[in-house]
Amino acid sequence: MKALVLAGGLGSRLRPFSYSMPKQLVPVANRPVLLHCLDRLREVGITDVAIVVSSERGQAIRDAVGDGSQHGLRLTYLSQEAPLGLAHCVQLAADFLGDDDFLMYLGDNIFASGLGELAETFRRDRPAVQLVVTKVPDPSEYGVAEVDPDGRVDRLVEKPKNPTSDLAVIGVYFFTAAIHEATRRIQPSARGELEITDAIQWLVAGGADVRAAIYTGYWRDTGRIDDMLECNRVLLESTEHRLLGEVDAASEVCGPVAIEPGARVVRSRIVGPAVVGADSVVVDSYIGPYTALGRGCVLAGAGIEYSIVLDRVSVRDVRGIHGSLIGRSAEVCLSDGDLARHRLVIGDDTRVEVVA
Ligand code: G1P
Repeated sequence: MKALVLAGGLGSRLRPFSYSMPKQLVPVANRPVLLHCLDRLREVGITDVAIVVSSERGQAIRDAVGDGSQHGLRLTYLSQEAPLGLAHCVQLAADFLGDDDFLMYLGDNIFASGLGELAETFRRDRPAVQLVVTKVPDPSEYGVAEVDPDGRVDRLVEKPKNPTSDLAVIGVYFFTAAIHEATRRIQPSARGELEITDAIQWLVAGGADVRAAIYTGYWRDTGRIDDMLECNRVLLESTEHRLLGEVDAASEVCGPVAIEPGARVVRSRIVGPAVVGADSVVVDSYIGPYTALGRGCVLAGAGIEYSIVLDRVSVRDVRGIHGSLIGRSAEVCLSDGDLARHRLVIGDDTRVEVVA
């Protein structure tokens, strides 16, 4: 089985981060979302992977992930000129996929408990398509599947206003080569995209064996900042306690905390689960649970918890930071002027919350 990973898209819900980096490269638990996705593929024995990237943002992904040899994979990159839909991505990959079965993975989805059982069921039963579904409170934001008690899909609708089922189609699909003809038989949807949901529904309508497997593990689409923070929390739960950097005698480190090589912790308190990235310096600071600090950061007199901090950030003399995502090389500091004023130098679509 091969895999097709979709890592295009504009990431508009993740602005301002998605202006400067593809959303799939934003780290959760100090590892880009896309690498978590490639880990899941390798675990189920897939080594031939094509990644669809947008022509604008593709280079950053190629630079970060390379040819895959570091990750035990053979990667092929396919460039998509515009976000024309998931079924369009399958068309782009037709030569790479040939007649092979494949797993299609939306590169901003996190499946924390792996894909082992799902892949096993597909390999054993080999229906034309195996969708993965999960119960959600808001099905109208997703493709929605009506499924019979034996797991056969009776109908699929993309983002219905009045959903007739609470089973949402989530970001992993198992396909046989039957999907290729279906992607050529459909028309663009109202949002101008060739929807994979419509292609699968075309197969359902023609009597093909389309099944849905229910995923009960932890899954999140990391399209929004709050989802990213939640994923970070869940993935940090399995942090292994390892102190590879330096921690001085005046510091206290409790709970599972990973301190990467070259990092230094001085007169500080760290309560895990948390990660301090390589070469970061933490002085007179508090790092609370569910915080992932990137590489080369400086925290001095800082207090932060339940947050994602990217590489080379500096935080000085600001405490009480919570539920935050701080971009690369950003600075957070106290103003030395009038205490009643805030000085903000921030980019487009940024959100800052201050206490009145
Ligand atoms: C896509 C699919 C939708 C699916 C969702 C899962 O939606 O079209 O059927 O439920 O991914 O994340 P999109 O994120 O493109 O709106």
